[in-house]
Amino acid sequence: MKVLVLNGPNLGTLGRREPEVYGHRTLADLETLLADRARGLGIELLCLQSNHEGQLIDWIEKEGAQSDGIIINPGALSHTSLALADALHGSGKPVVEVHISNVFAREPERHRMVTAAAAKGLISGLGFEGYLAALNFLAGLNE
Ligand code: DQA
Repeated sequence: MKVLVLNGPNLGTLGRREPEVYGHRTLADLETLLADRARGLGIELLCLQSNHEGQLIDWIEKEGAQSDGIIINPGALSHTSLALADALHGSGKPVVEVHISNVFAREPERHRMVTAAAAKGLISGLGFEGYLAALNFLAGLNE
């Protein structure tokens, strides 16, 4: 089984970006954590991050097509991007959307979730654990 993990805008600066909201661990820490869990589950993982909407869509088209599931944290694009939602829908793959923070406990403009409608489920507020839960869920679909 192969899973694509996408992180969107500003998630490349995890660790130094608003640590009171997102914690002190980096994107590299997250990807190591996920790689370790994936190895245990026998999952092949591809982790990619971009600040650009079009790049994320290109990866969903190309890499998503070769994957059995997608985990995505679209960052702020979650609240605005119909194009990303369309790409996720179009992939035909099971998608889990993850947010490190609990977006519903934050500013009202973060409560509008556009891409989540294209996901099987949404995990928000569990920190890095949310990505691990998403991976476990996708692994279960393939059993
Ligand atoms: C985020 C939440 C978004 O509202 C924000 O724009 C981010 C990070 C999260 O992981 O909590 O960039 O997706």
